[in-house]
Amino acid sequence: MPQENLKITVEQTNTAFQCASDDSILRGALRNSVSMPYECNSGGCGSCKFELVEGEVEELWPDAPGLSRRDLRKGKKLACQCIPKTDCIIKAQINAEIVPNVPKRISVTYKGKIQLTNDMAEFRFQADQPAKFLAGQFAMFTLPNIKGDRAYSMSNIANEAGYWQFIIKKMPDGKATHYLFNELQAGDELFIDTPFGNAYLREDNDRDIVLIAGGSGLSPVVSIARSITMNDVFAGRKVYLFYGGRGPQDICTPQLTEELNPLNIELVCYDAVSDEKLAKADNWNGPCCFIHELVEKKLGKTMPDYEYYFCGPPPMTEAVQRLVMIDYQVPFEQVHFDRFF
Ligand SMILES: Cc1cc2nc3c(=O)[nH]c(=O)nc-3n(C[C@H](O)[C@H](O)[C@H](O)COP(=O)(O)OP(=O)(O)OC[C@H]3O[C@@H](n4cnc5c(N)ncnc54)[C@H](O)[C@@H]3O)c2cc1C
Ligand code: FES
Repeated sequence: MPQENLKITVEQTNTAFQCASDDSILRGALRNSVSMPYECNSGGCGSCKFELVEGEVEELWPDAPGLSRRDLRKGKKLACQCIPKTDCIIKAQINAEIVPNVPKRISVTYKGKIQLTNDMAEFRFQADQPAKFLAGQFAMFTLPNIKGDRAYSMSNIANEAGYWQFIIKKMPDGKATHYLFNELQAGDELFIDTPFGNAYLREDNDRDIVLIAGGSGLSPVVSIARSITMNDVFAGRKVYLFYGGRGPQDICTPQLTEELNPLNIELVCYDAVSDEKLAKADNWNGPCCFIHELVEKKLGKTMPDYEYYFCGPPPMTEAVQRLVMIDYQVPFEQVHFDRFF
């Protein structure tokens, strides 16, 4: 069916925008600089819930975990998983914030990957236009014969030459990561839709910075570290980088931070592994604990003084969130995170 532009009106606000009939309502909103709340863009978090008042939509993933049974009973839907079929009237929250970078779909050519650990690699792509994004943001990948786009966070920084890099972890039985690690060939073309995400590096304060990553959460955190070391705004800051893996073989931060060029920042890196058996088997003599425990041990009472960026699987990000926001009462504005659903 030919693509057409449909009108989405947000009830009880002065907001209306055009959304293509093959675009999700969330992406349509963001492309028009309408700041609809969202986090994962992948159906997992539920932040983009809305009510359909009038019109028809197609739900791309009706069982998406972002909707609870209660939400389903109340007829709620996810803006990141709904494509309009007609003009629609919806009930949704619209934020006053500005959309930092309007996302668009671009073609990229795969150039190759650098293996970082047994199951993690940095993938490199090239586009024929400048790579515009903020450190910490992510792209949605459309992959052949895979239902639903996947989110991957950039690990490099914005550049005029059109380079895009992503640190990706291969998941056991994962469909997209199987394709990326085993089938994608140098020279292949893919479509990515980007940039998305609100856990980007802020320049509006002079606090020292704490970066925390678990597993594949390393990608945006490395992008933020790379961006900090290239930007004079951050001169003189202290930056902590905490990385947690299961076993010693997951630790690749020394390799990644070695190439950083810390102009005049003080970069302190701490790694921890959580699996005692793996730690013993590989003679690990560093900390063996969850990464949020190491953060508390190292920063203690000074915790409220920092700006925080953290990413990784939901159990890790939720533990860090509890530590930072509940136990140490760090103000909401100082905390930026992405859960990798
Ligand atoms: C904001 C964000 C940033 C991320 N950044 C990174 C990163 O930098 N590096 C990295 O390695 N991983 C990242 N991830 C995780 C990544 O998006 C994938 O979830 C992961 O690679 C597993 O994908 P898979 O297809 O291999 O696994 P599978 O188990 O096959 O798929 C799991 C994921 O696919 C999605 N999914 C499943 N079924 C459907 C469906 N029917 N329709 C739509 N979606 C569906 C869900 O998001 C689910 O979590 C990020 C996730 C998010 C939300
Ligand atoms: S943004 Fe739609 S479910 Fe997370």
